[in-house]
Amino acid sequence: GQNAAEDYRLATMHVSPARSLEVVPNATVGAEVRGVDLARAGAAEIDAIKQAWYRHDVLVFRGQRLSDDDLLAFSRHFGALDPPPNQGAGRKSPPGYPDVYVVSNVRDASGEPIGALGDGEAAWHTDMSYAPLPPDASMLYSLEIPGAGGDTCFAGMRAAFAALPGALAARVAKLDIKHDGTYDSGGTLRKGLAATDDPRSSPGTPHPVVIEHPESGARALYLGRRRNAYVMGLPLEESERLLDELWSYVESSVYRHRWALGDLVLWDNRTTMHRRDAFDPAARRVMHRTQIKGSGAPQRAAR
Ligand code: SIN
Repeated sequence: GQNAAEDYRLATMHVSPARSLEVVPNATVGAEVRGVDLARAGAAEIDAIKQAWYRHDVLVFRGQRLSDDDLLAFSRHFGALDPPPNQGAGRKSPPGYPDVYVVSNVRDASGEPIGALGDGEAAWHTDMSYAPLPPDASMLYSLEIPGAGGDTCFAGMRAAFAALPGALAARVAKLDIKHDGTYDSGGTLRKGLAATDDPRSSPGTPHPVVIEHPESGARALYLGRRRNAYVMGLPLEESERLLDELWSYVESSVYRHRWALGDLVLWDNRTTMHRRDAFDPAARRVMHRTQIKGSGAPQRAAR
């Protein structure tokens, strides 16, 4: 009766907002988070999102309506912002938003690209792993999308590590890969750098092949990108062979994201790689990306 209804009202009044948040795991890596408006997420929701993120590595939030300020505010919950990478051509950020990175094929009135990566395929990569302190996380928010193409795929690198035969895992446990900084994932030379195909002398940073996530303790294969990668200390041919072997496990667990407007995808740069399909050059695709500064250099897995 009346009392039961009133009891119910009182009991639910102080329920944390995170109670309405639902985490639906994908069949492969990643999960979709439902029931949260990222422009208004409170502390309890942010905490629930972080726990889900440490567990699933890639989180998809559908149907968001975020201004650049909302995107930045949500991003800051995960750490300090990292400025966009050096890219080949065009502007990187919307005016007044230096920490927002535009990924787009659209050109402005003067014919300059408004963002990075054009309409071509972007090969598998981890963001900015050529740097000593790569970003912990990146997120991508869709503002304009083509009718077809331009899907973004995520590879779970814990699963890739778990798929390695024991002898291979043991062999690479103490090795480092140099992550090349010459080209972006679309194959474009970064500004101010010289073209090179010698991975031994190209600019970049070595990181352990197998890393351990500082929060979850998960072990992951850390490959960065294939082009100009080099296993430190090995003759070039042996390095190439070993890299090809390691790369054959990359697609062990892949989630394909078909974009809808208002999707935000958050990924862990330490435990995932991503790639993007090409799309119709006549179509428009506009995405805004933020990155979270690395909390530490990638750590070699102890076990
Ligand atoms: C990226 O590699 O960060 C961009 C991916 C995409 O355009 O979907």
